[in-house]
Amino acid sequence: MKIKVLFAAWVCAGLMQAPAYAKGDAANGQALATQGDGSGAPCAACHGANGEGMAAGTFPRIAGLDADYALRQMVAFQQGKRVNPAMTMNIDNFNQQQLADLAAYFATLPVAAPAAATASQAQLELGKKLALQGDWDNYLPPCASCHGPNNQGVDGNFPGIAGQHASYLKQQLQAWQQGQRQSDPVQLMEAIAKRLSPEQIDAVAAYLASQPAAPQQ
Ligand code: HEC
Ligand code: HEC
Repeated sequence: MKIKVLFAAWVCAGLMQAPAYAKGDAANGQALATQGDGSGAPCAACHGANGEGMAAGTFPRIAGLDADYALRQMVAFQQGKRVNPAMTMNIDNFNQQQLADLAAYFATLPVAAPAAATASQAQLELGKKLALQGDWDNYLPPCASCHGPNNQGVDGNFPGIAGQHASYLKQQLQAWQQGQRQSDPVQLMEAIAKRLSPEQIDAVAAYLASQPAAPQQ
């Protein structure tokens, strides 16, 4: 067990060489968020008035997301490493400083408590096991070995995935399985997603969605 945890830590350390991005100005980001990039909808049209996202539309919660991570993801959409025309179209005209400002703004927004879980108890148990203990027989380390204690995120490399919408979590894992998401510098998530069965994806997404995104203040 100890060796496996060390291995995961070593794999994770390899990511720390990701490039550093510009510092954002949250006040400017707030103005940009309400205006949009001039080509279409403001962020709130999809991500909600407070960045809370929308489960039904698989629009992720972006409130409270680490600013470096959010910026890197928006750049990935612009570079075609993540593909979603609706999202890309609405940030295409922003330069990197403006994206940094937007990321800084959404990082400051508080995260609402998670919605009550609708999954079965058995599903939530399976999800919890994957999230916190892994499935070593299938070479699956616990999600928390990279995503931090209770999967609340570590830094700009390992996003918080607790308290994110289950529909979005599921969609991203499927995107990696199908080779459609290339934003991960060393494709750690592609390897993880490809070892997950459809039942495991549903379970871990439901469990993570039911967990608080950040420590209670
Ligand atoms: C028309 C709908 C729409 C609009 C408007 C929109 N987004 Fe998005 N956004 C999405 C969708 C859908 C995704 C998930 C796409 C995917 O990966 O399939 C996304 C993903 C993201 C992500 C990645 C989140 C993560 O956890 O990886 C960030 C950050 C983001 N959007 C920020 C913004 C900001 C800032 C704005 C406003 C400038 C904005 N979005 C406007 C639909 C939208
Ligand atoms: C070996 C390290 C590692 C492990 C273990 C791991 N992840 Fe990840 N995960 C990452 C990295 C790195 C990213 C950021 C990818 C990127 O930059 O696009 C990520 C991103 C994600 C995202 C995208 C979040 C977003 O906001 O867009 C989801 C969903 C996710 N992981 C789910 C999981 C689940 C579920 C597990 C456990 C079954 C898991 N991860 C285990 C490293 C890991």
